[in-house]
Amino acid sequence: MKTKCGVLMLIAFLTITCICKAQDLPKPYTEQYRPQLHFSPKAHWVNDPNGMVYFNHTYHLFFQYYPKDIVWGPMHWGHAVSKDLIHWKELPIALYPDSLGYIFSGSAVVDSNNTSGFGKKGKIPMVAIFTHHDPKGEKAGKDNYQNQSIAYSLDEGNTWTKYKGNPVLKNPGIKDFRDPKVMWYAKEKKWVMTLATKDHITFYSASDLKNWKKESEFGLREGAHGGVWECPDLFPLKLNGKTYWVLIVNINPGGPNGGSATQYFIGSYNGSKFTPMDTQTRWLDYGPDEYAGITWGNTGSRKIFLGWMSNWEYANQVPTEKWRNAMTIPRDLQLKQSKQGIVIASTPVPELATINAKSLALNNLSVNKTLDLSSKVADFKSQYVLKMSLAQLKGYTIKLSNKKSEELLIGYDEAKDQYFIDRTKSGKVSFQKDFAGQAKAPRFTAAKNSDITIVVDKASVEVFADGGLTTMTAVYFPNGDFTDLAITANEKLNIKNIKITPLKSIWNK
Ligand code: FRU
Repeated sequence: MKTKCGVLMLIAFLTITCICKAQDLPKPYTEQYRPQLHFSPKAHWVNDPNGMVYFNHTYHLFFQYYPKDIVWGPMHWGHAVSKDLIHWKELPIALYPDSLGYIFSGSAVVDSNNTSGFGKKGKIPMVAIFTHHDPKGEKAGKDNYQNQSIAYSLDEGNTWTKYKGNPVLKNPGIKDFRDPKVMWYAKEKKWVMTLATKDHITFYSASDLKNWKKESEFGLREGAHGGVWECPDLFPLKLNGKTYWVLIVNINPGGPNGGSATQYFIGSYNGSKFTPMDTQTRWLDYGPDEYAGITWGNTGSRKIFLGWMSNWEYANQVPTEKWRNAMTIPRDLQLKQSKQGIVIASTPVPELATINAKSLALNNLSVNKTLDLSSKVADFKSQYVLKMSLAQLKGYTIKLSNKKSEELLIGYDEAKDQYFIDRTKSGKVSFQKDFAGQAKAPRFTAAKNSDITIVVDKASVEVFADGGLTTMTAVYFPNGDFTDLAITANEKLNIKNIKITPLKSIWNK
């Protein structure tokens, strides 16, 4: 009897200790630095967005995911869905590593005509096309360890079956042979795969998603080549009634501000070959922290872009616990005429307004050195959108700061005609030698007037200047939220309008 009692007491003690321990840990989405407006999985490591496709009024987002740690590891495809691109529901893991290797980046399509033959009983298959990365082959020094494979789902992405005939596209002996982005080319009723092949792009086509034929290559002599080409995308966009084709090519390293970044080309595509209209190297986002960005498939003429909000230079070291990294805000892409020719303008999707709280508008302000707006954002929990319009652009700095003298600076340098984000004194910076510093971006218009929108989310900022012609993204890790806000200018600055909109968290915590 005595021993029974003792055992019961021990069990009770252990249970209470466990409960207390569990309560000590912050709940998911309440941790320091955890994005409140951006998608990040409940726990563990995330990198590239994958398999982005719109199907039955639902946006699917798969992602490179390692469910056992907060550093990169054997890759799975995590899965989340959204009706509005803002609120996400995380679902069970979609694809697990297998005997052919890890599940690297790729895309997904809705095979409405059942070209793959995977559809059964009238059910439309979703087909994922991804890279199988064989770590054993890599270790053994082989050069053919990345191959393209497919899997299908007949229940809108909830469960997946890998194709028995995998891989469907075998490696011809190129080490970096990955990240297939597949689209339907309606004109010729065929699928087109855009594949990153080391330092260029190779296009393939297939009628059934299984038998791929090489069409052409692009890029050996075009664009930036400071690193390996990864995660491409190809899609049409219209400007003034004319169709152009955009080819996105992510590159790591070799970005304009160091490390990974997204470059793109504009040109034409004839179903087989991509021809750029000029030799300019264009960057979709000049900040250090947008990478592997591509667009959702099956969204008609609307092109919605999403990137990974990090940089391979330090993605594995950033000072978060329990989870690491997040996605950017989804962005609408448009072509616009600029000082530097036709370029892409990015703007946060209007659906972001679904989480707006009551905004505050200030008109006709003038800045003589400093305009302190801290009291205006005191209750905004470092989650807000600020939009500022100027009738006459002059140099200015928007300063986010805390009481520990840490600060993040965003601004326009008139002498250099450049936008910048400076995180030199932004808090924790020593986890990587180049993290502290200033990222710069060109201005793409000579217009007198200007506008800037910044999306602030705890530990990240996305900057969209001049209607999105200049875009920059950066993460930062202050030792206390940046609850203060000020605008400074050396010369007197007249502000037409500032609108600050607090945003509600997308998570039920
Ligand atoms: C890009 C990338 C891809 C690859 C994946 C692996 O960030 O390196 O090329 O498929 O990440 O996780």
